[in-house]
Amino acid sequence: MEMTSAADLDALLAIDPPRARLWDNDPGLYWATLDGATWGLDNPVAALSLPALRHNIADIAARAGGVPIRVASKSLRVRPIIDALVRLDNVVGVLAYDLAEAIWLATDTGDRAGIDDVLLGYPTANRGAIGDLCANPQALQRVTLLVDSIEELDLIDSVCPPGSRDEIRIAIDLDASLRLPGVGDLGVLRSPIHTQGEAVSLASAIVARAGFRLVGVMSYEAQVAGVGNDVPGKTLENHAIRAMQGYSMRELRHRRSRIIDEIGQLADLEMVNAGGTGSIEATAKDRSVTDIAVGSGYFGGHLFDNYQHFQPAPAVGFGLAVVRKPRRDVVTCHGGGWIASGPPGVDRLPRVVWPAGLEYQDREAAGEVQTPLRGEAAIGMRVGDRVWLRHTKSGELSERINSMTLVDDDAAVGEAPTYRGEGKAFV
Ligand SMILES: Cc1ncc(COP(=O)(O)O)c(C=O)c1O
Repeated sequence: MEMTSAADLDALLAIDPPRARLWDNDPGLYWATLDGATWGLDNPVAALSLPALRHNIADIAARAGGVPIRVASKSLRVRPIIDALVRLDNVVGVLAYDLAEAIWLATDTGDRAGIDDVLLGYPTANRGAIGDLCANPQALQRVTLLVDSIEELDLIDSVCPPGSRDEIRIAIDLDASLRLPGVGDLGVLRSPIHTQGEAVSLASAIVARAGFRLVGVMSYEAQVAGVGNDVPGKTLENHAIRAMQGYSMRELRHRRSRIIDEIGQLADLEMVNAGGTGSIEATAKDRSVTDIAVGSGYFGGHLFDNYQHFQPAPAVGFGLAVVRKPRRDVVTCHGGGWIASGPPGVDRLPRVVWPAGLEYQDREAAGEVQTPLRGEAAIGMRVGDRVWLRHTKSGELSERINSMTLVDDDAAVGEAPTYRGEGKAFV
């Protein structure tokens, strides 16, 4: 199948989202359709349903209520799709995860225009990439590095001192966790910059330092954006999590807006990025935020099935070939052990979605090369048939396959290479 051109991708994404949500109303038909559309392609096959992607794009825009989106590239890792999303009216740029990636995304090449607003969402200590940035005037204008300490600026200067390069654009990582006395920090352990005093002191140091320009702040409320609040069978925990999330957003809106006001006195802030797929509407209420990071909501990895206030369509799935039948009611698939990052647990396994009713075996689960699955549905299956699964995370699947097949209604209409397919391995 031919790789889909940028113009074709734009046209495909411009079509109105479907009114009927086949993935909810008749999941069996939805997955069978993806299977039929990709039939004959080599396994493993990854499919991106364009109707489901269009639904997610529209839903994300509606949830953001007019606040621009910044695409979190780590949760896609498919460059043509990232580029196409950035060309949408409501998207301002990319939140990248690695400096070498950010430079690659931002730089024009003969056949591809670079993205002009790339914020690195994590600090870097990659000396080679820092050297590449300093030697690339276009990337220096388009890429913003994220820091949460002076030490990180020292490291940059040790590779290319201020006199030898243009100014480097800098954003501060402001800790968005909720600090509760007696409970501890709720959120992710990232930036040490939490209080107004800490933020203003770091901002002042950056502003006073040669070779850097403070242009933004990023602050990711993981405890809201990345924690499911409607997990089946956990009624009490869900209530507690929703209460914590509401409180945390109130605390954060208050603290963040004060901090942004103060830093805004010291520097011309071009961007204040925050949020993630799970917090879009809550983050949009924060007036200090200029754009909301969203990645997973586009592809809809199954980690995002357990939220009360939104349900992304499962736009991406992958099909594995049945290679043997060790028992009448067992099919063994080739591959499958694509375990997601994060705290180890059953939720890190790919979810078997089609045919319905197939289950992992406790002693093997999803294996490195072989995955046996047991269930009634296996009885009628044969060698060469396919089983469909969803990855837990939305971007990690792209590290396992070279391309995604684009499926519109019941036909494969194109293909898009993943980062891996383009020979890019960042983290
Ligand atoms: C810095 C940052 N911003 C935003 C996000 C949200 O990404 P997603 O929409 O894929 O959950 C993440 C995810 O971990 C992140 O690390």
